[in-house]
Amino acid sequence: TLQKDLSDVLVAWYDRHHRELPWRVSPAAARKGVKPDTYRVWLSEVMLQQTTVQAVKAYFEKFTALWPTVNDLAAAPVEDVMKAWAGLGYYARARNLKKCAEAVASDHGGVFPDTVEGLRALPGVGDYTSAAIAAIAFDRPAAVMDGNVERVISRLYTIGEPLPGSKPQMKMRVVELTPSDRPGDFAQAMMDLGATICTPKRPACVLCPLTDDCQALKEGEPELYPVKATK
Ligand code: ADE
Repeated sequence: TLQKDLSDVLVAWYDRHHRELPWRVSPAAARKGVKPDTYRVWLSEVMLQQTTVQAVKAYFEKFTALWPTVNDLAAAPVEDVMKAWAGLGYYARARNLKKCAEAVASDHGGVFPDTVEGLRALPGVGDYTSAAIAAIAFDRPAAVMDGNVERVISRLYTIGEPLPGSKPQMKMRVVELTPSDRPGDFAQAMMDLGATICTPKRPACVLCPLTDDCQALKEGEPELYPVKATK
């Protein structure tokens, strides 16, 4: 299948099977003109870096109730933010969260930058988070790489080299697959496919929209990807 058709098929799957998440604008709402709130996209992506979607939901609701905007979070006492974060782990994330909110409030008038480079310059915002926010909040064609995406890509293309050495070729594959139309939904579709169908163990290939193109499925054992490094 052509790359364009493959990404079209994936985005069509996303239209029907995306997860409803508190920080997400559904494709139907987006069609009616609803725009994602960058603050909510940023907050969710920072929380999701080392924590599961299920665990993040309640914390996301708590944070956005306490601090509805980035300016509110910037003005909050850091002890209050640390207390609200308790239980999520990796407390450096909470300190960076507060620093980033302060930078957006004081250096950017409370408005997040709308490019990968501008976002990447904020405290605590690395390659993953800058790409995710650029794609999801601003519909920019940024290559969003996380563990779910790496698993999908390593199976589609039977990438034989183990992680992390395979990262550059995986990123190249994502760059060439990313469509100019709806790149944000494409990125979220890759993550949802990896989280719900193309799972580490017993992937639900019968439900997958990409079976015609999946080299690992053709070989018969998709679970063998991504290949583990031999110790
Ligand atoms: N995991 C991290 N970010 C995500 C997102 N935006 N959608 C689904 N899963 C995610």
